[in-house]
Amino acid sequence: MAVLKSLSSVLAAAALIVPGVLGFQLAPRDAISNDAYPFCNPATDNECILNGKYLFPTLEFSLESSLGNAAFLQYLPTSTFSLTQWTNNKMPQACYHWGAEYYKFNPREFIMYNVTFADCPQPFVVCYHSKAQKTITQIATEISRIPVKLRQSTTAYLAFSDLQVDNPAYTDYIAAWSPDGIIMGRAQAYFPAALIHEVTHSMDRSILSPTKPNPWGFGTSFSESSTWISAENADGYAIAAYGTKSHVENFAEAGRAVMLDAVYPGGLAAFTGNNPNLTQISNQLSTFKAAAASYYVTGGTCDLAVKFPYPTVLVDIPPATPTITAGPTATATPYGQCEFILLFLFSPLSRCDSG
Ligand SMILES: *[C@@H]1O[C@H](CO)[C@@H](O)[C@H](O)[C@H]1NC(C)=O
Ligand SMILES: *[C@@H]1O[C@H](CO)[C@@H](O)[C@H](O)[C@H]1NC(C)=O
Repeated sequence: MAVLKSLSSVLAAAALIVPGVLGFQLAPRDAISNDAYPFCNPATDNECILNGKYLFPTLEFSLESSLGNAAFLQYLPTSTFSLTQWTNNKMPQACYHWGAEYYKFNPREFIMYNVTFADCPQPFVVCYHSKAQKTITQIATEISRIPVKLRQSTTAYLAFSDLQVDNPAYTDYIAAWSPDGIIMGRAQAYFPAALIHEVTHSMDRSILSPTKPNPWGFGTSFSESSTWISAENADGYAIAAYGTKSHVENFAEAGRAVMLDAVYPGGLAAFTGNNPNLTQISNQLSTFKAAAASYYVTGGTCDLAVKFPYPTVLVDIPPATPTITAGPTATATPYGQCEFILLFLFSPLSRCDSG
């Protein structure tokens, strides 16, 4: 938390819109040149890995304005798609659970779309919040940049409004929940660097899972396997500052690095001008590639034997209930309440339950 507070001036612009969006804690760090270890303090956070040490200077791939995001925009091609809007007054159960029950958006403010990309005959579903600051076409275009070999680990996307006034309870940024094959985030987080991180969470526990129970299903995370943890320990540095938060987050950061390595001309070594010592993460990159390189490529088509199935469990969108009394003005989730699960969050959502 001390680190966060020291960044408060950097975060001021974001905080004006959405106070407590800890999701921004990662992003500005790439722009700070004399950053000190640890980002994640092992004395106060027992999830921290590698004593909070990470590759420094960093690979600049976090912010939407970063070199890495620009590279993804340039080298991850879009796929064409068609949109069809649902008219049955239903939504996928997973969208209802995460969007309405968990994040407290009004379920009646979502519009469901089938999005059928040219590289996959089975549609994906976007549960689109009607006040989101990007159009459904913009959201679908960003999703289309996720290479289909990765995108097939998902089935649905929730796109929320960025404005706190539209849902005071929502202060997260973007998250993945691989058992539902779902990625959920605010409109402003729909950019390729964030999506590659999130879809890596999906891959981690589905297609790459060492214990997946069927071709597409989820099991334990690859990032929690001794194979991955040994590679981290052999290197001694996390891939990025945010990666020090946990094995799971570090793996998702590795997904970005490997994706860039695959698409950037000359690979990671040619990518950045700030001379990170890539030897410090070489075991992780090679271990990641040994498990996943065939998916971290552009082009091709989905494999329906592997793709997360189209959502078939649907719920009726409940009718509006009359407001009986005007309660006290709603307030945001207290700052820091869910700090461990934010931003490019993945698995331990239950940590938030007590918050
Ligand atoms: C959406 O796609 C599913 C699966 O292909 C299909 O059953 C359904 O009719 C489609 N709905 C719309 C509105 O296109
Ligand atoms: C790069 O990192 C490796 C592994 O930690 C280390 O052995 C090497 O000395 C570093 N090179 C430079 C130039 O700092």
